[in-house]
Amino acid sequence: HSVAILGAPFSKGQKRRGVEHGPKAIRDAGLVERLSNLDYAVHDFGDLTFKHLEKDEHFMHVPFPRTVGRANQLLSGAMSGAVGAGHTCIMLGGDHSLAIGSVDGHAQQCPDLCLIWVDAHADINTPLTSPSGNLHGQSVAFLLKDLQNKMPQVPGFSWMKPFLSARDLVYIGLRDVDPGEHIILKTLGIQYFSMRDIDRMGIQRVMEVTLDHLLARKQRPIHLSFDIDAFDPSLAPATGTPVNGGLTYREGIYVTEEIHNTGLLSVMDVVEVNPTLGATPEALEATTSLAVDVIASALGQTREGAHIAFPKIP
Ligand code: ARG
Ligand code: MN
Ligand code: MN
Ligand code: MN
Repeated sequence: HSVAILGAPFSKGQKRRGVEHGPKAIRDAGLVERLSNLDYAVHDFGDLTFKHLEKDEHFMHVPFPRTVGRANQLLSGAMSGAVGAGHTCIMLGGDHSLAIGSVDGHAQQCPDLCLIWVDAHADINTPLTSPSGNLHGQSVAFLLKDLQNKMPQVPGFSWMKPFLSARDLVYIGLRDVDPGEHIILKTLGIQYFSMRDIDRMGIQRVMEVTLDHLLARKQRPIHLSFDIDAFDPSLAPATGTPVNGGLTYREGIYVTEEIHNTGLLSVMDVVEVNPTLGATPEALEATTSLAVDVIASALGQTREGAHIAFPKIP
C-alpha cells in the first residue's frame, strides 16, 4: 500500500518561530527511506505553501487568526485529496494548530473517524479560556461539536464546521492542562490518560482501554495526532513547550505499535518539532530521529522483527 507525506511548514499557531522548519528536519532524518524499507510506495507531496496575511489583527488575545484559518483551509483540502486517493497520510508540522485542517480534511473522506491525541497538552482551550491566546493550544476546541456553543466566531474559520463528538477522542500523555481545559475535559466526559494514569495503569492497559473506547462499538479509521512534546524533553528537546515527566521511548513506541496493529491508522500528524530549539546538533538529531522512529512504528516497523508471508529459512 501507499503512504503520502504532506509537509506543513507553518508556525503562526504559536509565538516561537522555527517550527516551520520541522518538515525539512524530519525528512532530512531519513523518513522517506525508512518508509520505503517498510515496503510502502511513498508519495512525498512536498510542502504546502502558506502565506502570511498582511492585515490580520488579533481576535480577542488570539494572534494571526486569519493566517491560521487560511493555512488550515489549505491543509484540509490537501489532506482530503490525499486520503481520497487512497493513501495512508503523514502530516509533518509545523505547530499543532495544523491538526484543525488535518483532521477536518480527513473527516471529509472519513466522517466516522476517531481521534487519538498524544500530547503533554490537551490543546482544548477556547479563545475565552486560553491563557496564551495561541491557536496551537485550541485545535481540539475547533473540532468538537460539543463545544460549539462555547466557541466565538473566530475570523478565518468560517470555512469549517465542528464535527467531532467528545466520545470519539482519547488523550494520552497529558501533564500540563490549563484550568479551563480541565473543566472542559470533565464536563464533556472526555476519555484521557494523563502521565499519572500511565504511571498507575501501565501503557499496555492504557492502550487496551483507549482502543476499546474508540473501536469496540465499530471499527473505524483512526486519526493519530502526535505532538512530539508528549515525549520526555530528555528525548525530544527541540520543541516549543517542553514539559518534564513525559513518555519514555518505549511507552511512545508501544502506543504507535498498538495503533498499527489495529490496521485502522488512516492519518498521522507529527507536530511541534522545532529545529531551532535544539541546544546542540545532538539534541536536534535526537528529536528528529525520534519523530522518524515513531512514524515508522505507526506504519508497521516492529521491535520483534518481521518477515514476508511464506518464506523458508534460508
Ligand atoms: N495550554 C497552553 C496554551 O494554551 C500550551 C499549549 C501547547 N500546545 C502545543 N500544541 N504544544 O497555550
Ligand atoms: Mn498513488
Ligand atoms: Mn504539546
Ligand atoms: Mn499539542
